[in-house]
Amino acid sequence: MPFVEKLKNNPLQQAFTLCQAQMDELNQGIIAQLDSDVGMIPAIGHYIVKSGGKRMRPLLCMLTSRLFGHQGQNHIMLAMVIEFIHTASLLHDDVVDASDQRRGTPSVNHVWGNQASVLVGDFLFSRAFELSVESQDMAILGLLARVTNLLAEGEVLQLSRSFHLEMTEAQSLEVIERKTAVLFSAATEIGARISGQSEEVIQHMHEYGMCLGVAFQLIDDALDYSASSEAVGKPVGHDLEEGKITFPLIYAMQQHEPLQVLVSAITEHGSYQHDERHQVRSMVETHGGVDHCVAQAKVYANRAKEALEKIDHSDQKEVYQLMLNLADFAAQRPF
Ligand code: FPP
Ligand code: MG
Repeated sequence: MPFVEKLKNNPLQQAFTLCQAQMDELNQGIIAQLDSDVGMIPAIGHYIVKSGGKRMRPLLCMLTSRLFGHQGQNHIMLAMVIEFIHTASLLHDDVVDASDQRRGTPSVNHVWGNQASVLVGDFLFSRAFELSVESQDMAILGLLARVTNLLAEGEVLQLSRSFHLEMTEAQSLEVIERKTAVLFSAATEIGARISGQSEEVIQHMHEYGMCLGVAFQLIDDALDYSASSEAVGKPVGHDLEEGKITFPLIYAMQQHEPLQVLVSAITEHGSYQHDERHQVRSMVETHGGVDHCVAQAKVYANRAKEALEKIDHSDQKEVYQLMLNLADFAAQRPF
């Protein structure tokens, strides 16, 4: 199902509607910034833009700046920077994970090959930094450099812990925070920073983004064991094959020893035998791995809401309520 058709009156769709004018500007800006005389760059760039994506991170930057009544234009450009860093990381990630599908369409590495995916990722990544200089704000430049570094570190950490069956929930959360949540927190922190908020408020918005990002990734991990690939627009049931010992698996292995034995066997022979993928998925679901992961996502969604509740929102009640609802949505999303 195309992404737009999935958006039926949920908080994400409502937030899009609220920020429609800025999101249109963002999309036009993205097309303009993908311009290059090296034809492969706009070709791949337009392919990515056409295949959509939730645009959660730029949306959060826009919502936050709206929450604080920001009047300038910087939020569009900085939201674009965040989306470029995110897209660059996915172009690299699909190569690392040998994924052939993203957002319901064949992934760039599948269509153009690994080299093109890595190199266009590099282009997006460097274009993001070129653009961010326009903000002329050292705090924001420092933040973007730091979160990108954390993002890359998170991926290396995940790689270094692949097939690490003793992985704990705390270690899994550490990976989640670095590989996903930091970019969410950058989006909300930047929204607060460009609106001239105090360090205390900036810290609350950082916390909101961070917790929402953790909830979002925990659901990603749960969906790998519970959703269909049609629903999420990317392959499912592959996390273990990619060596990722995620939250639902950690919990279910603790509850059910035969699952531990099966996962050790898979790890030893390095790939799934016939039917093992199905068996692992079903054991993880039956032994509460998915439910536990979703429950944990809700804990983080509540923490996000608590951080937001510390903010004075008297002027922007609608945006505020939407941001509370978005935190719940991040922990309940079916795709
Ligand atoms: C998706 O995770 C991947 C990420 C959230 C981050 C990827 C980051 C890098 C590859 C570091 C390189 C960074 C830059 C900026 C060039 P996933 O594989 O669990 O989710 P998926 O199922 O959507 O692929
Ligand atoms: Mg991946």
